[in-house]
Amino acid sequence: MEKYRAGFIGCGGIATAHADGYRHVENAEIELIAGSDIHPEGEKAQHLAREHGIRLYADHREMLEREQLDLVSVCTWPRGHCEATIAAVENGARGILCEKPMAVSLDEADRMIGACEKAGAALAIGHAHRFSPQAVQARVWVQAGEIGEVAMIWGHCTLDLMNNGTHVIDLISYLNGDSPPRWVMGQIDRRNRIEGRRNHPDMPAEDMAIGRVGYENGVVGFIELGERASQSFSFRIIGSDGIIEVNSPDGPPLKMLSSYRSDGWHVPRLEETYSNICGELEELVSAVEGRGAHRSEAKIARTALETIMGIFESSARRRVLEFPIDVGDFVLERMVREGLV
Ligand SMILES: NC(=O)c1ccc[n+]([C@@H]2O[C@H](COP(=O)([O-])OP(=O)(O)OC[C@H]3O[C@@H](n4cnc5c(N)ncnc54)[C@H](O)[C@@H]3O)[C@@H](O)[C@H]2O)c1
Repeated sequence: MEKYRAGFIGCGGIATAHADGYRHVENAEIELIAGSDIHPEGEKAQHLAREHGIRLYADHREMLEREQLDLVSVCTWPRGHCEATIAAVENGARGILCEKPMAVSLDEADRMIGACEKAGAALAIGHAHRFSPQAVQARVWVQAGEIGEVAMIWGHCTLDLMNNGTHVIDLISYLNGDSPPRWVMGQIDRRNRIEGRRNHPDMPAEDMAIGRVGYENGVVGFIELGERASQSFSFRIIGSDGIIEVNSPDGPPLKMLSSYRSDGWHVPRLEETYSNICGELEELVSAVEGRGAHRSEAKIARTALETIMGIFESSARRRVLEFPIDVGDFVLERMVREGLV
């Protein structure tokens, strides 16, 4: 097994979950070395350092230069993702797990992808639901034709597009075999300025959003987000011969009703995994070592960001948009600036 030196940029809540994931990776020996945070004196950063015996820095460039890290977790708020990812790869990182949303604009996402491609480094984005046993099994069922031809995939969750919405959009894509999107239509609302609950203090958020996406394979995705939705990242896949429900609020994590089966709602026994983040990190190691692409590689995550920007832009222009979505800025921020929301 290869040995890796790993570190963190941004040492808050999700960095702690990454640290735990690194400790349980089974396909590599990983030493946790250092972390950097704009507030290294903060409680969360101090906790991470204490728990995992890592050195703390206030400046990630200094950390990256001194510590020669192989694997870097980018766990800052979204505005920091692009610069931190590029700094990591320019300082020799071979694998980066950057948290979602990938970036705040498609221009930034393209710069991140370009820098990692140039250096030959693996860049994965933290759409961790792709590693949940229920999502993996649901995708297997869809691909095996257990519910016939899929017509629609509906997904919902609380909060805004750049926070939970990116998970919802990305998981719809995963369940749909990552068929490319062809058009998107959306609407957002920000009348109540419910920004108190957002986890991204450095950017605006809408109160609620809906989006409808047409994929190349004919499937339609429906995204529903907002304060009144359930927290549970629920998905319903509707096929010509059945329905699959993932994380239904009042049910088991996965169930299927199929006209090919006579047992009513079928509830499978799911594979046990340590954690979704541990799965993401193990697959990052495999990608670094040339054993296959990461299922959440940056190019796939860019599609989720493009879809989000498409929903914002569709809301601004009040019409359906075809892919590729030709906007390079953070559309929501522009909409707020222009008084559109
Ligand atoms: N994959 C998931 O399910 C999941 C879950 C939670 C959070 N996240 C994502 O992880 C990211 C961080 O969220 P969190 O919950 O850990 O937030 P947090 O507030 O707990 O921690 C973020 C930390 O990053 C630091 N920071 C912010 N900008 C920085 C910068 N430019 N350079 C260095 N440090 C910086 C902050 O001081 C803070 O300590 C967000 O993008 C969020 O969407 C993902």
